Amino acid sequence: MKSDSASKGNVVSNIPKHIGIIMDGNGRWATKRLLPRAAGHRAGVKNITPVVSYLLEEGVKCVSLYAFSTENSGRPKDEVDSLVDLIRKRLKPMTRELIERGARVVFSGDRTYFPTDVQKLISEVEGENTDPSSSVVNIALNYSGRSEILRACRLAAEKGEITADSLERELFTHDLPELDMIIRTGGEKRLSNFMLYQAAYSELFFTDTLWPDFDKKELKTMLEEYTARSRRFGKL
Ligand code: FPP
Repeated sequence: MKSDSASKGNVVSNIPKHIGIIMDGNGRWATKRLLPRAAGHRAGVKNITPVVSYLLEEGVKCVSLYAFSTENSGRPKDEVDSLVDLIRKRLKPMTRELIERGARVVFSGDRTYFPTDVQKLISEVEGENTDPSSSVVNIALNYSGRSEILRACRLAAEKGEITADSLERELFTHDLPELDMIIRTGGEKRLSNFMLYQAAYSELFFTDTLWPDFDKKELKTMLEEYTARSRRFGKL
């Protein structure tokens, strides 16, 4: 039997169900153009909708985006302020198109860090589509993989025994598919505290391309390479 994606004539069969993206390189993109770093983040936001829309069209069920790590809050105040302001101004327009395309937008991380107007925006976006059968865009905001694991352990312990199942039920991603693939742009080869529990068997893809320049063409090549990789999950 043909897979869903192959029968739709999409670029690759065996499409990953869930892709995580570490969108790195905005600052360097701006510096190369003698622009302030905030301009790089603005260019980075503009690239989210085309990349995510393409993936959803190809049949990917869930895309997780690392938009603001807990560690990012330690950057100089003007950069943190510009990132928070970008979220304030661009979150709704950016997600509107994805929601119109049928996606459900969810968030991972500790949103209480953000000013109350931003927290309200996050809740509003979350409430726009709650249909569990929709494809999902999961935006990690003030997110730390280690904190997520710790939080899940605490919540599971409050309810009883900590087991793999009880812990996984408390992860932000408890109702999302397995994380099949992680892409990191911007040249660094590390996970930087992104979805550490979920990454156990993810296929990792790294590219030197800076996030604002990352496009469909490169994504298509990565999807084709993903299909060609043999995933054994520790077995033979
Ligand atoms: C890494 O680039 C990127 C970030 C720290 C932020 C990514 C955020 C966005 C693309 C926008 C999020 C906004 C919304 C509305 C969801 P870097 O600054 O570390 O780049 P560098 O490594 O070149 O310095």
